[in-house]
Amino acid sequence: MISVWWLLRSLFLHTGMSQLRAVTWFEAQTICRENKQSLTVWKNESTNFYWTGFYKKTSHWIKIIDCYNATEIQYGNVNFVELRDSSPQLCQEHCLRKNISLFAVQARKCICLSDGFDYSKSKLDPSNCNYMCSDTTLLSTDCGGETGFNVFLTDTTIINVYSRCLSVECGATPKFTDYSCKFLLSSICSNLVDDWLYSSWTKTKDYCKSTGAYPVGNLTLSNVTMACIEYNLSNTSPGWIGVVKELHNKQDQGQLITYPDQKFITSCMKCRVNYTTQEPQCQYEFCNDNSISEVYCSKNNSVGKYTDTTSEISSTLVTTSGLPIDLKARSTEILLIQIVVPVVLVLLFLSGLIFAVVLYIRRKLSKEKDSKVDTNPSTNDSRIYSNVQPQNSDNYCELQQPYSTSGSTDYSQLQFDS
Ligand SMILES: *[C@@H]1O[C@H](CO)[C@@H](O)[C@H](O)[C@H]1NC(C)=O
Ligand SMILES: *[C@@H]1O[C@H](CO)[C@@H](O)[C@H](O)[C@H]1NC(C)=O
Ligand SMILES: *[C@@H]1O[C@H](CO)[C@@H](O)[C@H](O)[C@H]1NC(C)=O
Ligand SMILES: *[C@@H]1O[C@H](CO)[C@@H](O)[C@H](O)[C@H]1NC(C)=O
Ligand SMILES: *[C@@H]1O[C@H](CO)[C@@H](O)[C@H](O)[C@H]1NC(C)=O
Ligand SMILES: *[C@@H]1O[C@H](CO)[C@@H](O)[C@H](O)[C@H]1NC(C)=O
Ligand SMILES: *[C@@H]1O[C@H](CO)[C@@H](O)[C@H](O)[C@H]1NC(C)=O
Ligand SMILES: *[C@@H]1O[C@H](CO)[C@@H](O)[C@H](O)[C@H]1NC(C)=O
Repeated sequence: MISVWWLLRSLFLHTGMSQLRAVTWFEAQTICRENKQSLTVWKNESTNFYWTGFYKKTSHWIKIIDCYNATEIQYGNVNFVELRDSSPQLCQEHCLRKNISLFAVQARKCICLSDGFDYSKSKLDPSNCNYMCSDTTLLSTDCGGETGFNVFLTDTTIINVYSRCLSVECGATPKFTDYSCKFLLSSICSNLVDDWLYSSWTKTKDYCKSTGAYPVGNLTLSNVTMACIEYNLSNTSPGWIGVVKELHNKQDQGQLITYPDQKFITSCMKCRVNYTTQEPQCQYEFCNDNSISEVYCSKNNSVGKYTDTTSEISSTLVTTSGLPIDLKARSTEILLIQIVVPVVLVLLFLSGLIFAVVLYIRRKLSKEKDSKVDTNPSTNDSRIYSNVQPQNSDNYCELQQPYSTSGSTDYSQLQFDS
């Protein structure tokens, strides 16, 4: 019994002192959200790495349609919004919330177009749509122009391509190919001008624009055979088309991020203060990186709930200050529940079993020996056993208490603050 107890005790001490539980960016975000906060935006919270509220998110597929006359686009469309940035991906997000997949961008203006939009009318040469976009990596000069709007189409089809730039091969077996945007491929411009130039996706788009067209974008993504037929494509080597995913730079607003949305969040910013230089060191990292065990939330999130792109524009950044949540408390609670409690139960069961076996053997022996002699050791034994049990539960509390109290103070502090 005593040796079992020591085994148990050393197990407690060992797991109790093991390293802190690491959290992914999503877990850290959830901890803050559950406390009605968002992740910190300060870059000077700790000398150990921690997650900040900054992250990068990919958009849905954006298909380039064309450049259209601004007067025509705006006619009858008074309901445009002014975005925070000139950015096709922000406009896509805004229109998707209204369940509209066709959208037009001119600088910070964003218009969600109705299904009745006439594609064939009032097209302009791409040279009329050369405004720079901010916060983009691929559609960098495609935010309309003085007289034009760039029109795009959203496609939420999930295809098995990891690159943000889509390429297609239309031969005997048509397929969407998966090449990095920097890879040199041939161009498939919508005027189907032949070219023997191999270039990156961005160079391809610029090349097509210089010939008065865009890379073909209005393709069916759910059926590549159909896509090849739509433009009579027969290229037997992969070529770039006008279908891309943009990257957003985003900031946590303390909103619920459901699993399908998590897949679009590709990298998250972690920071630490360099101990020697006292300068913050920040870098984007795979969001499921599990080497981080400190969580800092905003003290007050008066940015409020994330509702609409329009409210996002008007809201300004508030000063936030970090509040560490000691994960030791959480991790130990989890350890106690997940590991230690089952171990205790199993050990208690085993010791009970041993006790029963011992009792059984003794009873068997007692049949051979004098019964009066035998009852004494038996009661003595059960006394040892009952001694072990309170000692056991005492120690359990003693180990749990410091953590759980520190945990509850943390939470009450949080509640008080918010
Ligand atoms: C971080 O820096 C800001 C000013 O730049 C300061 O107000 C804040 O107190 C600092 N936070 C920490 C944890 O040092
Ligand atoms: C755009 O359309 C308006 C009205 O239809 C027309 O007056 C204008 O010349 C057009 N602009 C361009 C650049 O073609
Ligand atoms: C969005 O549009 C599709 C069809 O275009 C429709 O099936 C769906 O119910 C709409 N969703 C919402 C939320 O309006
Ligand atoms: C895009 O494709 C759809 C369906 O294939 C078609 O109805 C529409 O006219 C096309 N738009 C352009 C600009 O080619
Ligand atoms: C894809 O499109 C082609 C041509 O229209 C058609 O024959 C084929 O059945 C389609 N495939 C699927 C899976 O829908
Ligand atoms: C594809 O080829 C057919 C027949 O050759 C032609 O009628 C059609 O207009 C072509 N489509 C495109 C988009 O070039
Ligand atoms: C801190 O900064 C100094 C000087 O830039 C650098 O040499 C050192 O490696 C940094 N420390 C860490 C832990 O990155
Ligand atoms: C936190 O923000 C809310 C508004 O969202 C405000 O009413 C409240 O006073 C703020 N609390 C503190 C402690 O600043």
